[in-house]
Amino acid sequence: MTVSPTRGRFITLEGIDGAGKSTHASWLVDALASRGMTVVATREPGGTALGEMLRDIVLKQRMTHDSEALLMFAARREHVVQVIEPALARGDCVVCDRFTDATYAYQGGGHGVAREWIGALERLVHPTCNPDLTLLFDVPGTESRARLDRMQARGRELDKFEQEAQAFFERVRNVYLARANAEPRRFRIIDAVRPLADVRADLQRIVDSL
Ligand code: TMP
Repeated sequence: MTVSPTRGRFITLEGIDGAGKSTHASWLVDALASRGMTVVATREPGGTALGEMLRDIVLKQRMTHDSEALLMFAARREHVVQVIEPALARGDCVVCDRFTDATYAYQGGGHGVAREWIGALERLVHPTCNPDLTLLFDVPGTESRARLDRMQARGRELDKFEQEAQAFFERVRNVYLARANAEPRRFRIIDAVRPLADVRADLQRIVDSL
């Protein structure tokens, strides 16, 4: 008789642009792997060949906000079916840099797409595949804008979202915080304004608790 493996854990990382999320993501993946977990590190939009093509389009092209949400979910459907679900079914731990909370925050909060609309897409695209744990790297909109401006001054080209005004990032952040407060068992809010070592210490505690 074959014994099916226990379903793996689905961990997502969220936060407004400039929160330092991606820097912490690779550290977290290494920390989980060093504990013996098989980790699949992936991102949204992206994570599949088609998803990466769609990423290129949504991060560069101007379009209606509804179309933006639809493309995020098209990329997500590919990602869930081809990568995330099979990995979780194998018992692997999936660490995904952004997921559906980002659509609520950016397209919903940032751009005003109706919550009900996003909810309907969420139910169609991944009715049973939802994060077990979401780490929200939190910085105020002022800090986000200042960090992005410094990156640009150092020669980094900013994408469509990174060029948004501070008020946009404040709206995105408010939705993230509201979602975190509504689901305290799933979310951990990490104050990402603090020095790197302090943020790492929080992450270490979270890894230890898994
Ligand atoms: P990243 O630079 O953190 O990988 O994220 C890419 C950008 O895509 C980021 O500015 C947020 C945006 N985004 C959305 O607007 N909606 C979404 O559903 C996702 C996953 C990302």
